[in-house]
Amino acid sequence: MKNILVTGGAGFIGSHTVRLLVNNYPSYRIVNLDLLTYAGNLYNLSDIEKKSNYTFIKGDINDYQLLVTIFDKYDINSVIHLAAESHVDRSIKDPLIFAKTNILGTLNLLQVAKESWNNDFEDKLFYHISTDEVYGALSDTGFFEETTPYNPKSPYAASKASSDHFVRAFGNTYKLPIIISNCSNNYGSYQFPEKLIPLCIHNICQQREIPVYGKGENIRDWLYVEDHAKAIDIIFHEGKVGETYNIGGWNEWKNIDVIKLLIDKVDTYLGRKKGTSEKLIRFVKDRAGHDYRYAIDATKLNKEIGWKPSLQFEEGIEKTIKWYLNNQDWVTKVTSGDYQKYYEEMYKL
Ligand code: NAD
Ligand code: DAU
Repeated sequence: MKNILVTGGAGFIGSHTVRLLVNNYPSYRIVNLDLLTYAGNLYNLSDIEKKSNYTFIKGDINDYQLLVTIFDKYDINSVIHLAAESHVDRSIKDPLIFAKTNILGTLNLLQVAKESWNNDFEDKLFYHISTDEVYGALSDTGFFEETTPYNPKSPYAASKASSDHFVRAFGNTYKLPIIISNCSNNYGSYQFPEKLIPLCIHNICQQREIPVYGKGENIRDWLYVEDHAKAIDIIFHEGKVGETYNIGGWNEWKNIDVIKLLIDKVDTYLGRKKGTSEKLIRFVKDRAGHDYRYAIDATKLNKEIGWKPSLQFEEGIEKTIKWYLNNQDWVTKVTSGDYQKYYEEMYKL
């Protein structure tokens, strides 16, 4: 019997991961702990919230007593840890909350797992979800491998790197069974519209300007979020304790090319003349310390466990655009604070 604590399960990747686990493993208990910050939203999970193998708890990973109670009450034997502050621009404005959530929150969770499992680590797992940004930035060539030295360059990346180090330190020092995966940029449904792809789709629909940092030449490696959730599932079940796995899309794009692709597709869907929204492109001041290129070498995951992305970017982007066009009320709700009302009604709190 697996009783899995998923943290950050109301966020973008977390909600896809929770949905997959709840639907695919009816005999598991999935406990979703999420603070419901601006980025976390119960609308993301309304299709599965009534399932009997699913429990939602609103709370903070920094709350030691709450974690102890959850581990005890639900007999938690596995953790999939996604809760984090995740937006680079916000980390540049306010790095402290990134240290609090991403570093101290992870440490608190590790500590409670270690104490609750009380040295009985058989069939236990602490699986930490991390990012490729811990490796730093690449020039035009090369890839991040699992052995690439850490060189985080933004406050967000530094906080994630630090959390990775704590996870490994607990594995080494206390023999806590840990696994880490480091993934590239995700895109897909339910992504908060502060990130590049949903922000662009939304702005193209609304005919609002699209802010392009610098010259738009920075490169990201995009992966469809459901493929990340599938990778998390497979690593959780088949990954080797103590190992790190890189997850990526083999799919590098310059930002400006992604933006032009989105303009083309959204305009087409909305029946507008080709190129209508190109006038919305605005080159703005670059992000401070903007990492030039990320690119993941995901060979290890493919060779050892057989995972590879299932979707080509064009197909994933079409699904994503259609989802945002059909769910514009979701964007309005998550950006309006309306979901707090939903939470209170749903959970009578
Ligand atoms: P997100 O910002 O969409 O969601 C984060 C979730 O964590 C939200 O639901 C939020 O309410 C919750 N949360 C924040 N602080 C909390 C706290 N103190 N206690 C409990 N819950 C809290 O993030 P995401 O994009 O889904 O990313 C999830 C994880 O995956 C993060 O750890 C991130 O670093 C990592 N990651 C993200 C990407 C990406 O492209 N988005 C890529 C690689 C790795
Ligand atoms: O690589 C994995 C990381 O990808 C995750 O760990 C982060 O949580 C996630 O937010 C993402 O980080 P990025 O900074 O790469 O994502 P973002 O969507 O913020 O930006 C993508 C690129 O687009 C980046 O080069 C900055 C640029 N950009 C972004 C925004 C929001 C713009 O040009 N204009 C914008 O308005």
